Amino acid sequence: MELKKAMSVSIHSNVLFSLAFLSAGLLSMNAMAEEYFTIKDGELLRPTGYREWVYVGTPVTPNDMNNGKAAFPEHHNVYIDPKSWAHWKETGEFRDGTIIMKELVSVGSKVAVSGNGYFQGEYIGLEATIKSKKHNPNEPGNWAYYSFSTPDHSSITKVAKPFPAASCNACHQSAAADDFVFTQYYPVLRAGKGKGEAASGGFTSTLK
Ligand code: HEC
Repeated sequence: MELKKAMSVSIHSNVLFSLAFLSAGLLSMNAMAEEYFTIKDGELLRPTGYREWVYVGTPVTPNDMNNGKAAFPEHHNVYIDPKSWAHWKETGEFRDGTIIMKELVSVGSKVAVSGNGYFQGEYIGLEATIKSKKHNPNEPGNWAYYSFSTPDHSSITKVAKPFPAASCNACHQSAAADDFVFTQYYPVLRAGKGKGEAASGGFTSTLK
């Protein structure tokens, strides 16, 4: 009797143990494959939450320096998803599954109490790029490019189709400093490349 009881307890705990092991395995597989975007029927659903990702820089191509109509008007606030940032600071590379968002912001004012300049106004558009072997097997570098901006920059769409490589990818391939990404304009990525904890700031600086 006692033996039977002991055996059933041990079988029971074995089953529990295997279940726990299995679900831990599934969880870690999930974490590995974690993506910050959803592609459905070939279209990227507009990502959310990116203003809480890692901010990498703000290039600015003001309309008034580009014949009144810059290709990507005005300020471009650029963010990378947190997992890809973690990978970048450890390895200095963009992982498969990287997503970078570029949110366009108008020039709101050209004067502040601090001086004349270009100050951020309102949101006027949203672009994205994704590196994925699974989703973009035939794109150079596996990078695909998307725009949620409407032509008049008055709103953003819910979904976006990838552009043909000639429209976006080709310029990134030929002119961007690091794996199709314009790191030459993103001090956070440049300073943090492969720097581990020091990438987060306060440890090293280009200032003497
Ligand atoms: C003529 C060259 C050129 C073309 C064509 C181009 N880009 Fe870019 N792109 C840039 C430059 C330069 C930057 C960085 C500076 C900036 O934002 O102005 C950039 C930055 C980006 C970024 C931020 C991440 C990164 O790779 O640096 C995204 C997202 C982006 N572009 C999307 C697009 C999309 C979508 C298209 C096609 C509709 C496109 N780009 C076409 C030159 C180009």
